[in-house]
Amino acid sequence: MKVIFALGGSVLMPKEGASVEKIKEYTETFKKIKDMGHEMGIVVGGGYTARNYISVAREFANEAFCDEIGIMATRMNGMLLISALGNYTIKKIPENFKEAELIMNLNKIVVMGGTHPAHTTDAVAASFAEYIDADLLVIATNVDGVYDKDPRKYDDAKKLTKITTTELLDLTGSASISAGSSSVVDPLASKIIDRAKLKTLVVEGTPEEILNAILGNHSGTTIVSE
Ligand code: UTP
Repeated sequence: MKVIFALGGSVLMPKEGASVEKIKEYTETFKKIKDMGHEMGIVVGGGYTARNYISVAREFANEAFCDEIGIMATRMNGMLLISALGNYTIKKIPENFKEAELIMNLNKIVVMGGTHPAHTTDAVAASFAEYIDADLLVIATNVDGVYDKDPRKYDDAKKLTKITTTELLDLTGSASISAGSSSVVDPLASKIIDRAKLKTLVVEGTPEEILNAILGNHSGTTIVSE
């Protein structure tokens, strides 16, 4: 199948930075999935690098400029994955979907980051998934699924194992779009998932859960269109 992963930058690039072990674990998992015969793309987030740079730049620059800095951080993180994927990919971060599709047509894993200001890499992943008619979008992030309210703020938040795209829009629609902000699914991504009727999974961004998402035994949230 054709599958697009949105790999949260915060799982790949936490405050303590990248590690050889971690990059190896993720890239071995992605290679394994590719070897199963899937066509795939990975859209990498900016993580701590993006947040750190944005928080300093915001003192001097507007949101769109901060977004551009965030996009550069996502591409740096993507280059790290590329460095460890060898000939499973090519040494180029595509900057638009036409370039990305060409890489996929070479039977290589597409690794990309952000594209334009005012959204996150979740929206890029959803939009690219729509562009190539993907069978599945996997949002691998720093929470283990979609909750009825923010689990980092509310102890009684409940994980939802299955939700409709309408429920997803209700839950994420009011999230902020300022540079570096974070909601479990970016509001623009939710809208694209809804209009494209994309089968989408939100899972914890560990290598195990990424593999489980493909094997069909993940413990995250399945988003279905009505
Ligand atoms: P991320 O996609 O990493 O956003 O992009 P995030 O919500 O902080 O996600 P995690 O924590 O990495 O999972 C980082 C920032 O880069 C800019 C935005 O400012 C975003 O918050 N960005 C990224 C864009 O403006 N456009 C893009 O296409 C991608």
